[in-house]
Order: sequence, then structure tokens, then C-alpha cells
Amino acid sequence: MKSFSRISSLLFVALCILPASFLQAQAADIAATPPMGWNSWNHFHNKVDDATIRAQAEAMVSSGMRDAGYTYINIDDTWEGERDSSGVIHTNDKFPDMKALADFVHSKGLKIGIYSSPGPKTCAKYEGSYGHELQDAQTYAAWGIDYLKYDLCGMRDQMKAAGSPEEAHKMMVDAYIKMRDALRSTGRPIVYSLCQYGNDAVWEWGASVGGNLWRTTGDINDHYARMEEIGFGQAGLARFAAPGHWNDPDMLEVGNGGMSSDEYRMHMSLWAILAAPLLAGNDLSTMTPETVGLLTNKEVIAIDQDRAGRQGDRVSAVGPIEIWARSLADGSKAVGIFNRHPGPLSATVDFKQLGFNRTVKARDLWLQKDLGKLDPTYTAKIPGHGVLLLRVSQ
Ligand code: GLA
Repeated sequence: MKSFSRISSLLFVALCILPASFLQAQAADIAATPPMGWNSWNHFHNKVDDATIRAQAEAMVSSGMRDAGYTYINIDDTWEGERDSSGVIHTNDKFPDMKALADFVHSKGLKIGIYSSPGPKTCAKYEGSYGHELQDAQTYAAWGIDYLKYDLCGMRDQMKAAGSPEEAHKMMVDAYIKMRDALRSTGRPIVYSLCQYGNDAVWEWGASVGGNLWRTTGDINDHYARMEEIGFGQAGLARFAAPGHWNDPDMLEVGNGGMSSDEYRMHMSLWAILAAPLLAGNDLSTMTPETVGLLTNKEVIAIDQDRAGRQGDRVSAVGPIEIWARSLADGSKAVGIFNRHPGPLSATVDFKQLGFNRTVKARDLWLQKDLGKLDPTYTAKIPGHGVLLLRVSQ
């Protein structure tokens, strides 16, 4: 009798634990490493349509980006049309047939993403999912959608009307849970991207509402000052990221023309150390070879996509020189030596401070060149707004 009750209580505990670990495993299955792809917003804003999406999918393949790991073609805001009398959402004139578009993107060996809001309206004032969450999730699944960016925007007005900040917070959390459950009920694996600009320390609860990634900041733009502010502002968030759920410092601006090559190298290097989603935000159909090189450097991407999924963090900041490091699955470390000053500066890195105890082996990842053995204290000249990105091992 005693052993029976022991077995039944063990069974009870197992049944309680199972759903949590099962859900974690499910999250890790669809975003085991930070999602990589492209999103329409940064370059096209509301001027995105079916033809644009097809051209981006084709360019993702022909440029070599797909083979470098980029997978998702994500349609951001402004695809939405009206709801019909049964409440089913339809596309607007720019997207005549979403299912056919999804089939086309899938035929290129890619996946497709879409955008909505938990509020009645999106940021660009198109139709949101409020009150139609399950219906919308079912529509997305029927179209063959693989990724949803769910942008708080229109819900902020409702939150303002809440009686207290706690109540407003609960409204937001409940809205994210509602769409999580709706997506899960479709049975289709759909990456769930939370976008609420990092409010209420989303990194602390984003995974618990099913987020595979959550924006940690307001919007990026194609200016060095904004990229720098966002990128270096990520210090301290590393422990909240893990396979299945990632901090998202917003999409890439590489190739949009507002920054120098060194600045774009800094952008990519920081995002890789941060285990950030790599969602290109430029026009893939008109890229220069230099932009392709910046986006597809395999050794830099390997840092971002390292299977251990441990986000890196700041190690030191001395004036405009910052050293950031990320531990990698094979025991080596990615080390970024960043110069936030506009002119070149000498920077010294103390590898002992990074856990190495004698000479180290280092490889320059942008040049893809071994630097051989380096002394534990190493000095290099870093270009203005530039970076030396190393892979270091003992
Ligand atoms: C917000 C988001 C952006 C983009 C726009 C679309 O500003 O943060 O990334 O999705 O809405 O309207």
C-alpha cells in the first residue's frame, strides 16, 4: 500500500514536470539558435508587397545568404486587410494570395513570417488581432506561416486605461499568453517573436509566455549612434538567453547605407556576441559584394549561432574601448575589442582577465586569418567605430 502511494505520488510529480519540460523542448526545437532571416520593415516600411517578398526570397538564395544560415523571410506591418463578416482576416491589395506567397517562399527552401498586434490596431494602424487571436493563428497556420512577430503597439491605449501599472502589466502578459496558446493549438511550429520594446523587463518573463525571442529595446535605425546605444546597452542581459528563447536588440541595418563599413562590422560583431537574432533589414536584391560579405561571413555567423547558446557580455570598458566576450561550445571564446571613438585607438586586452592563463591562440574572424600565438597581454590598433573580433583558445 505504502509503495503504491509512493509510485502514485512519483507519477503525479512526473506529470506535473512533464508539460514544463516538454514546452521548453518544443521552444528549443524551433529556435535552438537565434533565428536568422530578413524582415521588410527597416528598408521597405509600408512599401512592401508580394513582388518585394518574392524578390527578397530569390535574392536570399542567389546571394548565398540561405546557405550561410538565413532562413526566415518576414513580412512586417502593412500586409493586413479587412476582416470578413465571420471575422477572418484578409490581406490587402499588396498581397493578393498569402498562401501562394508562402508556397513560393517554401519552394526556395526558406520559411515565411508575418506580423500582428495584440491590440485592435498595429503600429502602422492596420488591423490587429485583438479579439480574434485564435482565428488569426488558424489563418496563419492555414497559409503556412512559420514565424509571428507580435507587436504591442495598439494595445498600449487599452493599457493606459488600466487602473494600475500592475493591471496594465497583467493585460499585456495575458495578451501574449493568449496568442501563445492560439499558436500552439494550431499544431504548426511557429516562432513567436515578442515586440514590446523591452518594457517591464521582458527578459524576465518573455520565455514564460512562450516567447522564442523578445525585443529588448525601442526601434533601431540606420545611424551609428542608435545602433551603438542599443548594442552596448545590452550589457547584463546574458543570463536571460538560452536555446529556445533569445534577447532581441532589433533587426540589422547592414547594407542600408547609413553607416560606414567599420560601423556595420561593429553592428554584426556585437549582435553575434549577443547571440542576437540576425534579421537582415536591407534590400537583398541590390546588395553590393561588400554587404554580402558583411552578412555572410561564416566565422562571424558561427559565433552568433554557437550551439551552446550562451550570450556574451561586457568584460571591461575603459573610456571608448570596450571588451566583450562570449563562451563557445568548444571551450574557446569570442572576444570583441570595440572602439566607440570616431578615430583609431590602441587597445590592450588582458587574456588572463578572460580566463586564459598563458599565451593564447587567436584568429581574426573578419579577416579569417590565424594570428598565431599571442601574449596574455595583447595590444592592437582598432579603427574608429571599429572592432577586432577574435576567436581565442588556449
Ligand atoms: C514598431 C516595431 C517595428 C515595426 C513597426 C511596424 O515600431 O518596433 O519593428 O514592426 O512597429 O509598424
